[in-house]
Amino acid sequence: MRDDSETMVFIKDKPIAAIVGVGRTKFGELWYDNPEKLLFEAGLNCMQSVDKGIHRKQLEACFFGSFLYQTTNKIGLMSGHMAKELGLNIPISMTEAACASGSSALYNACVALRSGYYDVVLVGGFEKMTDRSSKISDDLMFAADPNEFSAGYTFSGLYATMMARYIHDYGEGKEECNDALAMVASKNHHHAIKNEYAQFRREFTPDAVKRSSLVAHPIRLLHCSPITDGAAALLLTSPEKAKQFTDTPINIVASKQATDSISLYTRDSITSIKATKLAVRAALEEANLSFKDIQMAEVHDCFTIEEIMFLEDSGFYSKGEGWKGVYESFENGKNGKHIMYISENSQLIVNPGGGLKADGHPVGATGVRQIYEAYNQIRAQAGGQQIEGPIETALCHNIGGTGAICNIHILRKG
Ligand code: COA
Repeated sequence: MRDDSETMVFIKDKPIAAIVGVGRTKFGELWYDNPEKLLFEAGLNCMQSVDKGIHRKQLEACFFGSFLYQTTNKIGLMSGHMAKELGLNIPISMTEAACASGSSALYNACVALRSGYYDVVLVGGFEKMTDRSSKISDDLMFAADPNEFSAGYTFSGLYATMMARYIHDYGEGKEECNDALAMVASKNHHHAIKNEYAQFRREFTPDAVKRSSLVAHPIRLLHCSPITDGAAALLLTSPEKAKQFTDTPINIVASKQATDSISLYTRDSITSIKATKLAVRAALEEANLSFKDIQMAEVHDCFTIEEIMFLEDSGFYSKGEGWKGVYESFENGKNGKHIMYISENSQLIVNPGGGLKADGHPVGATGVRQIYEAYNQIRAQAGGQQIEGPIETALCHNIGGTGAICNIHILRKG
């Protein structure tokens, strides 16, 4: 922790924080591991990845995120579990923000680092969902309006409503729109083939997606992210301390959060996410960048419609045109092992490791796993799923519920 006498001056052009290490577990059905063990494994992998090494006693605080661990595993007070695993007595806080729990923990860590209160913190996200596979659809509805639950909705049902409205408004009668919604899944499964940690490493053609079993019309099984166990962790430092740990830190140059009404029926629009629009705009402003500067994005593709809405909400494609861009890019955007999105004068690779769709979606871990992927891509150490050509700037988009919260983080080469 910094000396109290140090002046806490926020300098606009200074990075908010530096990432100096990352770790994760495999994602999938991890029946034999407890939630705290998963988090510990990810944290250990993260600490071991630090180029110049770190001792756990150098940690000043931990910021963890999870959505459902009290319900799925009947445990609480994760601070105590992790104090035991780490053998430390430092501040450990937990954040719950549904599927955005991990990135909300990161957002809180960024607030602490930018204020100057801490210099070295561990951020983690985890979820253990498969232990309650028969009840998990109901559990996930904690992240929706209780009236939506009472009306019989599941999360697939809520996103099906959004997808149906999108098709009605922008692609009615056009089979290419349905194809585009399937192509998002096909692309992300294709990207996960070389990802050794991914839950699913199988190709699915757009036709296979369209033929998969119906979950909630028009959403089919292969439009959905899966039920997943897993954890991920990051080691963050103040920009000044980063070089003690690595010569090649990756900077967080924007960390922004926006919120919106939890219920779909109170929103102005259900074919776009207001919180995404607000957070993307604020993050680009904070980083002093335009969206054209973003080379890769980790996008919250919990259902394929969400990836298309992000492409529109971020301004990469115009409103209602996202599906056309996806459709045209699927054939024309081949870039080595990845398929990139092409718009008028820019290109973007989305979810190079498979995204939530294929890498998996252990909800509280996802926002942290996205940063793990972006960090490795920028450092050119992403293994089989490394993007061809250098990546300097990446954006991570993590939302909770049907868009009640959105965190945007922008990472840049130091
Ligand atoms: N993508 C790809 N394959 C999937 C899958 C998915 N989302 N979900 C399950 N599978 C596979 C399984 O591995 C299994 O394959 P196998 O037969 O080769 O072993 C097969 O499909 C059937 O799996 P099963 O577990 O019986 O599926 P299910 O019907 O219980 O669950 C969903 C499927 C889509 C309902 C479930 O994944 C789901 O609810 N997803 C949404 C999660 C969610 O809402 N998260 C919050 C987002 S905001």
